[in-house]
Amino acid sequence: MDPLRIGVMGTGIIGREHVALIQSSPDTTLAAIADVTDSGRALAERHGVPCFADYREMLDQGRLDAVIVALPNALHVDAGLACIERGLPTLMEKPIADTLAGGLRLAEASEAAGVPMLVGHHRRHSPDMVESHRAIQAGELGDLYTVSGMWLCRKDDDYFDQAWRREPGGGPILINLIHEIDCLRFLCGEIATVQAVTANKARGFDVEDSFAVVITFTNGMIGSFVGSDAVPSPFIWDVASGQSPSFLHEPGNCYVIGGRNGSLAVPGMELWRYDDNGHWRDPLVRHRLQPPRTHCYPEQLSHFVAVARGQVEPIVSAREGVMTLAATLAVAKAAREGGTVKVGDMLC
Ligand SMILES: NC(=O)c1ccc[n+]([C@@H]2O[C@H](COP(=O)([O-])OP(=O)(O)OC[C@H]3O[C@@H](n4cnc5c(N)ncnc54)[C@H](O)[C@@H]3O)[C@@H](O)[C@H]2O)c1
Repeated sequence: MDPLRIGVMGTGIIGREHVALIQSSPDTTLAAIADVTDSGRALAERHGVPCFADYREMLDQGRLDAVIVALPNALHVDAGLACIERGLPTLMEKPIADTLAGGLRLAEASEAAGVPMLVGHHRRHSPDMVESHRAIQAGELGDLYTVSGMWLCRKDDDYFDQAWRREPGGGPILINLIHEIDCLRFLCGEIATVQAVTANKARGFDVEDSFAVVITFTNGMIGSFVGSDAVPSPFIWDVASGQSPSFLHEPGNCYVIGGRNGSLAVPGMELWRYDDNGHWRDPLVRHRLQPPRTHCYPEQLSHFVAVARGQVEPIVSAREGVMTLAATLAVAKAAREGGTVKVGDMLC
């Protein structure tokens, strides 16, 4: 089969990663770039492909089989609709949209036109997540009761030079927690309600630097998640998993999932159980689960190729992306207004 001809919209931080991945896969070829900057044009020149300042022109003239959208969030809906209108399968970076209404428009358009959209929640393709999901589904933890998680990282001071990152909406709930929410939904099931508090003790900006969330799941599980972008630590998936291009690997854990038969620490993949369902004073036995030796970003691209060729349905469809966005926005609302927010109410 000929390599899939992919156009990339937006060649900033993550768009450049996508370009490199496309160029290193035998199943894909970079067909064109859409970006408005000189650096985007220079990147296109280096790869010998056309660069379009107007992404619609790329869609019409680029002879594309598929598109990756890595534009700022506010452009996702218009760009996604333009791809769907032209029948082009799309990998849409997360979040699917900057509003729930926009995300729902994309989901409805994708479903109505039968044009698949994969949302770029790359961790779903990560070996630790895939193996944890398998073990949970296989009943190795038994009935699930609890989950706890952490995302503790210190962002550099110059990260906050851009004003929007110091303002509500530019903080770790909407930028970072959305990944955790997607993983929790994948591993533990649909989120029913959230409560949340935030603090800005570290920097005193209007935006939160730390948050704590209490979660209930529709299957009866309960959980908590604590995060901060002001704390240096290895207790963050990006560091602990070794799967992120931006962080050095420091093996460890950031989630513990608890069930009737055992507890699983992720991404270290330690499953703690009593042998033979023993007494609580019996020795606990540590089993090490063995995830495949894969990497999430190339896996995501391979999956996208199969989606674009109509071989499989997207693992994270537009509708899935909307559910993750809804639960994340529910956390932001709970932190803002207090009380308990039902995720289902976000979608009404
Ligand atoms: N999955 C991940 O690991 C991951 C990581 C980072 C960012 N993201 C997501 O990817 C998206 C992009 O984030 P980023 O950090 O790469 O942003 P960025 O600001 O670094 O890059 C955005 C690019 O889009 C270009 N652009 C802006 N308007 C344009 C237009 N109208 N037409 C063509 N190009 C235009 C900009 O010139 C820039 O090159 C966001 O949705 C973000 O949430 C995902």
